[in-house]
Amino acid sequence: MKKKTIIIGIESSCDDTGVSIIQNRKVLSNIIIHQKIHSKYGGVVPELASRLHDKNITKAVQKAIVSAKIHRDEIDAVSFTLGPGLIGPLLVGASFAKSFSMGLEIPLLTVNHVQAHILSHFIQNANINNSYPKFPFLGLVMSGGHTQIIKVNDFFKMEILGSTLDDSVGESLDKIARILGFYYPGGPMIECFSKNGNKKKFLFSKPIVSGLDFSFSGFKNNVSQFIKKELNKNTLFVKQNLSDICASIQNSIGEILLEKVEKAISQTGIFRIVLAGGVSSNHGIRRLFLSFSKENKKLEIFIPKKEYTTDNGAMIAITGLLKYERKLFDSIHITPYSKFKTFS
Ligand code: KG4
Ligand code: ZN
Repeated sequence: MKKKTIIIGIESSCDDTGVSIIQNRKVLSNIIIHQKIHSKYGGVVPELASRLHDKNITKAVQKAIVSAKIHRDEIDAVSFTLGPGLIGPLLVGASFAKSFSMGLEIPLLTVNHVQAHILSHFIQNANINNSYPKFPFLGLVMSGGHTQIIKVNDFFKMEILGSTLDDSVGESLDKIARILGFYYPGGPMIECFSKNGNKKKFLFSKPIVSGLDFSFSGFKNNVSQFIKKELNKNTLFVKQNLSDICASIQNSIGEILLEKVEKAISQTGIFRIVLAGGVSSNHGIRRLFLSFSKENKKLEIFIPKKEYTTDNGAMIAITGLLKYERKLFDSIHITPYSKFKTFS
C-alpha cells in the first residue's frame, strides 16, 4: 500500500453536511455546514434537511479540498454514510459520493454512522487522552439517533450489548429542552443553563430496565409531569429554577448512562470505556465518567474532543480509511438504509 492514503468522508445522515479529508489518520480538513432552519421547528424536518444538503454539499466538498491544500486527483477513495439516518439526506450524500467515485475513478466505501462515531477515536489526537483505545473495549454511543453499549473486539467486529427500547438519550434531552422552552437542539442549551445549578435539587425517577438496555421515554415523561405540576402551583417555576432543573436533568441522565456502563463492566470484565456521539460533548456527563474512573484505578475512559462528538465528516473518513486498508470496497449499486442494521 502507498505510504500516504488520502480519503474524503461525507456525512449527511441528519441535519449537518460534514465533509472531511484525512491523510492516513491525520485530519487535513473538517468542514461542517450546520442547518439552522430546524431550530424553530423543534426538531429536524427531513424534507428541508434534504434540500439543504443538496444545496450545500458541493460547497462543503470544495471547501474541504481547498483547506486540506490538496488537489482532488490526490484523493484515493471516497467514503460516505450509508445509514442509519434520514433517507432523503442520506440519498443526497450517496448520490454525490457515487458520482465523485465514478468521475475520479476511485473506490467507494460505505460507512455505518454508529460505527463511525466509535471509530472516530482512531483519528490522530481525536480524544483528550491523545491515544488510540486498545481492543477489546466497551463503546457507549450516546447521540440523537442512538444509545447503545457496544463490545468492540476489533475495528469491524462489534457486538451490541444494549440499546434503547424507545427514545435515544439525545432525543429525550431535546424533547425535555422543548418543554423548558429551548430551541432545537436542546442538549447544548441544557448544558449551558446547568452551569451554576444545583444538580441534587430535583430528583427524577430513573427507568428500571433489565440487562444493558436503556429507556429514556419514561424519564422524559417523569420530568414533563413534574414541570407541569410545579407550573400549576407557580407559573414562574421554570424561570426561577432553570439552572437547578437543567443541572438535575443532566446529572440524572449521566447517572443512568453510568449505571449501565458499570453493569456492562461487571458482565464483561472489560475496563476500557470509549464515549462517543453528540451527548458525549456534555461536560457534566464527561465529568461524571472521569470521576468514576478516578475512583477505579483499573478503568480507562476515552473521551472524544468536542469536534468529534457531534456528527462530522472526519469520523466517516477514518472509517473509510480503515475499510480501504482492508479493501472493503462497495459497488455504486448499494443503497442507503434508514433503520439501524447490525454491524457486518
Ligand atoms: O451524534 P449527534 O451529532 O447526531 C446523531 O447521530 O444523532 O448527536 C446529536 C445529539 C442531539 O440530541 C443534541 O441535543 C445532543 O446530541 N447534544 C448534546 C450536547 N451537544 C449535542 N447533549 C447534551 N449536551 C451537549 N453539550
Ligand atoms: Zn451521529
